[in-house]
Amino acid sequence: MSLLQGKVAIITGGNSGIGKATAALFAREGAQVVITGRRQDVLDAAVRDIGHGSIGICGDVGVIAFHNRLADEVRERFGAADIYMANAGVINLTSSMDITEEEYERHFSINTRGVFFGVQAIAPLIRDGGAIIATSSLAATKVLPQHTVYAGSKAAIAAFARNWAMEFKDRRIRVNILTPGPVETEILGKLGVNEADRPAFEAHMVNLIPAGRMGRPEELAEAALFLAAKGTFVNGTELIVDGGMSVS
Ligand SMILES: NC(=O)c1ccc[n+]([C@@H]2O[C@H](COP(=O)([O-])OP(=O)(O)OC[C@H]3O[C@@H](n4cnc5c(N)ncnc54)[C@H](OP(=O)(O)O)[C@@H]3O)[C@@H](O)[C@H]2O)c1
Repeated sequence: MSLLQGKVAIITGGNSGIGKATAALFAREGAQVVITGRRQDVLDAAVRDIGHGSIGICGDVGVIAFHNRLADEVRERFGAADIYMANAGVINLTSSMDITEEEYERHFSINTRGVFFGVQAIAPLIRDGGAIIATSSLAATKVLPQHTVYAGSKAAIAAFARNWAMEFKDRRIRVNILTPGPVETEILGKLGVNEADRPAFEAHMVNLIPAGRMGRPEELAEAALFLAAKGTFVNGTELIVDGGMSVS
């Protein structure tokens, strides 16, 4: 029996990296998958790759109206949902002395406000016994150079998730945090690190990981599947998937 047969799963940032790998795994496990992303062409390609009747809804998680439109579309097409993974996120490495107000707002608008209002819009659709997963980052608890604003934007959602576990207890909706360390996804090209400096940056990161390598999106997807389906007594907590980086 597939783990997610008959379930409806919504994954933001599902057109790339961790979200896409999770969407593909959930779809193989029988879920009706709804993915979101900002780039329509990439979203369309991801829907084709994931297959299994998955659908894509394009929009910006930094815009609150998008979450309401997503909720309306899912309600109209499927009636309800079972799993919501608030996964879309951005990072631009900058020191606190150099970050602009605009970049600060971008991090908090997408990584923090986007997650909060996503849950506010989608939680009413989630059937009793469902699951919410928020993708945070190891940077929220481990100090890494030039990660300050990103770290703050991700630390907030871990706090939200713990509170939501209590707020939704009467509906038996479990809320957990998926905390990746460095994972090989497109995000590594969006950090603001020069192409020429990328190998040294990545080598520095890998040096901090006892596993001796970065994670693969599929490894995070397995952890998301655990939180969505197998971890039925796991609630209000954080699953760190970082090859051991947190202890280095
Ligand atoms: N990879 C890592 O090393 C790592 C480590 C710790 C935490 N994380 C977290 O893991 C999550 C997934 O990241 P990833 O590594 O899979 O990176 P990715 O491949 O760059 O995927 C990020 C996803 O977020 C979407 N997104 C970004 N801004 C958006 C917006 N304003 N509205 C809607 N969608 C938006 C992107 O869609 P578009 O491209 O279409 O905009 C994309 O689908 C993020 O929250 C990230 O912070 C990643």
